[in-house]
Amino acid sequence: MKRVFSGYRPTGDIHLGNYLGAIRNCVAMQHQMDENLICVVDLHALTTLEDIKNLVGNTRLMAASFIASGIDLTRSHIFAQSHVPAHTELSWIFSCITPMGWLNRMTQFKEKAGKHRENACLGLFAYPVLMAADVLIYKATHVPVGEDQKQHVELMRDITGLFNREFNKDVFALPEPIITGPATRIMSLRDGTAKMSKSDASDYSRINMMDDADTLALKIRKAKTDAEALPDTAKSLEFRPEAANLINIYAALANQTPDHVCKMFAGQYFSTFKKDLTDLLIAHVLPIGQEMHRLLQDKGELDQILNRGANHASALAETHMKEIREVVGLLKPLGS
Ligand code: AMP
Ligand code: TRP
Repeated sequence: MKRVFSGYRPTGDIHLGNYLGAIRNCVAMQHQMDENLICVVDLHALTTLEDIKNLVGNTRLMAASFIASGIDLTRSHIFAQSHVPAHTELSWIFSCITPMGWLNRMTQFKEKAGKHRENACLGLFAYPVLMAADVLIYKATHVPVGEDQKQHVELMRDITGLFNREFNKDVFALPEPIITGPATRIMSLRDGTAKMSKSDASDYSRINMMDDADTLALKIRKAKTDAEALPDTAKSLEFRPEAANLINIYAALANQTPDHVCKMFAGQYFSTFKKDLTDLLIAHVLPIGQEMHRLLQDKGELDQILNRGANHASALAETHMKEIREVVGLLKPLGS
């Protein structure tokens, strides 16, 4: 049984980098797995102040972006982390066996806490323990994560071994990370050396999945390029980061290699290429954005989908939680 668990923080606007770097992979993976659990990790968002704003809206937005991108709701279950309380229950049990020394080594905590480590909240420190519980409560076999989360998955695997040894039973199998890596690293439209990001002050630096056709066209028209013609190999774009980024975007959307795209446009100038890129963006991004708008207008439907996802996830989590409580040695409540 291949069960994949992926977690996404509800952090606000969804841009083309999120779509090509994460969402699209998740949609593709659902056909290779038996079960796909997609969790909007709203409790993790509570650990960082900037993400607390508009949690309700951002949770729905994250869910809408996956559904609109082609999640098959018969194979995939999308839900909010806070709707399945077993995550936090298991997290507490794990936090009672995980040495603080292990958590002290986490580079993300060090980065996020910065100089004010003593003032950082306990939740930020315990973040990877909750993440381990997210995956293990479902006995998920596969965890797709970006490079920056590799260390957290290692810790999750260490906790798996520790728990099984501590309680003398192989309750959990080791989850396998799927490192999604920087395969499609989409850069800013204004600066080819900076990642496309929602935190960039200029909206012209990114394509938002909910941009309309005119905005998409304007952003591509204004995207930074150069006056040279396009070469016939991607390698020749090494020192032209903005040009390379637009070629990469085209290639990712058209499911072609950057080399192939260069051959298609070799000798032509950006004026021509940008028109074609705009058409491609309109064909791919616009329908997803429109579906997101529609879903977000009907919050009732969206909340129903999230509710169905949470019901499915809760049933599975509760079966495992019963076993875990027993293994740990807690008194069973009457009637269970
Ligand atoms: P974030 O909102 O930065 O936490 O990113 C959410 C997901 O989108 C992660 O899996 C990232 O790897 C992916 N992502 C974010 N920005 C980009 C980008 N510019 N290019 C490719 N993937 C990205
Ligand atoms: N920590 C992940 C991130 O910042 C999100 C996350 C939370 C997650 N729980 C998870 C990812 C479980 C994979 C599995 O992106």
